Amino acid sequence: MAGIKRPLLTSETAWQNLQKYYDENGSKINMPDLFAKDPARFEKLSINLLTKNGELLLDYSKNLINDEVLKLLFQLARDRKVEEMRQAMFSGEKINFTEDRAVLHIALRNRSNTPILVNGKDVMPDVNKVLQHMREFTEEVISGKWKGYTGKSITDVVNIGIGGSDLGPLMATEALQPYQKGPNAHFISNIDGTHLAKTLKNLNPETTLFIIASKTFTTQETITNAESAKAWFLDVAKDESATLVKAFGIDEKNMFEFWDWVGGRYSLWSAIGLSIALFIGMDNFEELLSGGHFMDQHFCTAPLEQNVPVILALLGIWYSNFHKAETQTLLPYDQDLISTSFEIMESNGKYITRNGQRVDYSTGPVIWGEPGTNGQHAFYQLIHQGTRLIPCDFMMPVETQNPVQGGLHHQILISNFLAQTEALMKGKSKEEARQELVQAGMGGESLEHILPHKVKSLEHILPYKVKSLEHILPYKVKSLEHILPHKVFEGNRPSNSILFQKLTPFMLGVLIAMYEQKIFVQGTIWDINSYDQWGVELGKQLAKVIQPELKNKGSISTHDSSTNGLINFIKKHRV
Ligand code: F6P
Repeated sequence: MAGIKRPLLTSETAWQNLQKYYDENGSKINMPDLFAKDPARFEKLSINLLTKNGELLLDYSKNLINDEVLKLLFQLARDRKVEEMRQAMFSGEKINFTEDRAVLHIALRNRSNTPILVNGKDVMPDVNKVLQHMREFTEEVISGKWKGYTGKSITDVVNIGIGGSDLGPLMATEALQPYQKGPNAHFISNIDGTHLAKTLKNLNPETTLFIIASKTFTTQETITNAESAKAWFLDVAKDESATLVKAFGIDEKNMFEFWDWVGGRYSLWSAIGLSIALFIGMDNFEELLSGGHFMDQHFCTAPLEQNVPVILALLGIWYSNFHKAETQTLLPYDQDLISTSFEIMESNGKYITRNGQRVDYSTGPVIWGEPGTNGQHAFYQLIHQGTRLIPCDFMMPVETQNPVQGGLHHQILISNFLAQTEALMKGKSKEEARQELVQAGMGGESLEHILPHKVKSLEHILPYKVKSLEHILPYKVKSLEHILPHKVFEGNRPSNSILFQKLTPFMLGVLIAMYEQKIFVQGTIWDINSYDQWGVELGKQLAKVIQPELKNKGSISTHDSSTNGLINFIKKHRV
């Protein structure tokens, strides 16, 4: 299955049918009309998953879809063999064919412990062995049994890693702060020394534990930061016992095994998640795994029409490939649920198919976002009234982790979440906007009615010594008619709403796995390999060429004139 050759996506009948439907009817799909015509639209286009931590609701009714679009999209998924590829992944086939590897982060969270074979060998005993190792280690640290070099217990853990060896654990520890059981968690990733310096500034080497999180143990940033952290440790410690770590040998019993079938950005489920386990405790870490497993089981067993990751993936394709949306947002209404959009983009930022052809359609969109309500005051203007279509995923816990002021904060947060999705879908018609302006006292045609602060005479307007009407009105607004178009919201802008009970470790696992599987489905339909990342290699190679050039005296002329110019500028001005 993994090596299967498939026709180019755009030549598939299902694709062409979708294109035809979009060309003929795409612009006619109007959500407010569809809601008005069908009172059961929400029931039809939403899915409830009952988990052990409450329900997860996906409401996808506020999308530019109707029965016909959905039928065509599900047909596309079937024709592109999503079910077969899913089976191939879960049975350990080497679907990461450019690296000749299986893709088995799903084995790391396989809490049912059913055998998963790679090259005929069940990987589960090894997975369980590492989990047991993690449990022993985390319990020693959290209980205070594990001591620093002066005999004190550990108060702070610093994870040194980058990409998937940083972002996943960083996101999980941020999101799960109320579940903290162990030392404080810190993260150093950037090669910019500021990251290291700022992080270490307030830490005590006697009580700080470093985790070097790397799949390959060759990543330049991680190794350099690890060496510098070691130097900091030796320098600050200035103690006899510190000689023990001088060789930078890491005791084998403190190494945690990792397999080539775990992709970099899917590694938080593995020993790369040690910083998470140390922060929330191993029981909670296993809850996170269970959440991921729950979503995997749903993904494997639910029919496509009821399958959350499949539906999210197909909607994304509908917007990216047919509506030509360039971006998609992740808008968590939870301050701690920071977006991992950056990692998602590493997976599907590819333009070569499994067949080796260049795609003639777009693949991974730009994914971005910020927690609500901050985003509302920063970029939602672009989503509501900008010229681009920006499909949004809103997500929110019904119950907050941090109730304050008798629940007022969360009530306001919830109302904003709901208001935004409603506003995007419904918009505001010209007539509604006109009524609003009239009610606000702008009914007439005169200057008195137009001026927002109800300034009655020229004298009142003169703080800036404006002398004439033309100067007063910045946009030369002469009447209600002039301001009206700016107050209209076209609406008909799509969003998914994802609601869940509470952000527990289990639920976080559910959500992360949901997006991972969405990415898998999209990669399958686009016929690209979501599990390699060759695209980051060229920059790494060139950085290795440039680094020694920065050390040498004299100007550089081996690159293009721009790169030479930049290098020489830096060399000249460096202190
Ligand atoms: O550069 C991309 C990447 O390979 C990511 O996929 C990975 O998460 C990151 O670098 C770090 O790699 P490693 O865990 O091997 O240090």
